[in-house]
Amino acid sequence: MQHLIRTSDFTKEEILDIFSDAREFLEFKPCDILKGKIIVTLFFENSTRTRSSFEIAAKRLGAEVVNLDVGTSSTKKGETMYDTVANINAMKPDAIIIRHSECGLPESLIGYVDCPIINAGDGRHSHPTQALLDLFTIYEYFEGKTEGKKIAIVGDVRNSRVAGSNRRLLPRFGIDVNLVAPDCFKYEGDEFKQFSTIAEVIDDIDIVMSLRSQLERHNITYFESLQEYARDFCITNELMERKEFLLLHPGPVNRNIDITDEVLKHERCKVLEQVTNGVAIRAAILKKLILKIK
Ligand code: NCD
Repeated sequence: MQHLIRTSDFTKEEILDIFSDAREFLEFKPCDILKGKIIVTLFFENSTRTRSSFEIAAKRLGAEVVNLDVGTSSTKKGETMYDTVANINAMKPDAIIIRHSECGLPESLIGYVDCPIINAGDGRHSHPTQALLDLFTIYEYFEGKTEGKKIAIVGDVRNSRVAGSNRRLLPRFGIDVNLVAPDCFKYEGDEFKQFSTIAEVIDDIDIVMSLRSQLERHNITYFESLQEYARDFCITNELMERKEFLLLHPGPVNRNIDITDEVLKHERCKVLEQVTNGVAIRAAILKKLILKIK
């Protein structure tokens, strides 16, 4: 049985197969390949897009979805996460999708289940389905020619799990990763080129991935105000005109902090296309893991 904890759980070939299924699912034709299957979602952290994206993907394929209300679940009564998951597993679901603030938690649950576990975000560690949908959006935009493309990941690269998963995934498809962040958000490793301003890299860049400041993961206040951050890191029309790059953001966007209102309407800003692609990619992943298709 296969789980999805991090993007390296899939080979390059498997990822390309997921992309071809996703292309078909983007047509949104009625389909019931997961009819009779039951998928449980367990979200211990806030989510708008990811949970509804998984739910819509599952329903598009004919599956039923049970969202465990973690606010009222027994973990609040002192039950351990392992017991909660073992109990859910005893009800024989076909997959469990989990988001938690603790890095490594989804992986540690594997020994307690008989169905695939899908990591929908674990702390600042990984968010594999987001990175796969980001790569898919890039792949489609450049018609498969990702080799040699340069990306600038801009913002809170230290605390963002989206940045973490993309840093590991994109180089496998020949994409050169550059990180742009203020000192307080710099990534602690040295495998990537790091910059302090967008101006230093922009003329050389094909893709910009803007990130949200992960305020919930900071235990100190770095900035007087987010406006101060925006002065240096917000994606503006001036940058869009200076270089022709594809603009991505995983959402939720802090308007006029991460990306300006005008740029959100720009044709090279693909934030909503990422959301649409997310449903198709998650449908392809559910199909692969639940039907155990190699
Ligand atoms: C991200 C997340 O939760 O990791 N959002 C998402 O899933 N699309 C990014 C974020 O919260 O900034």
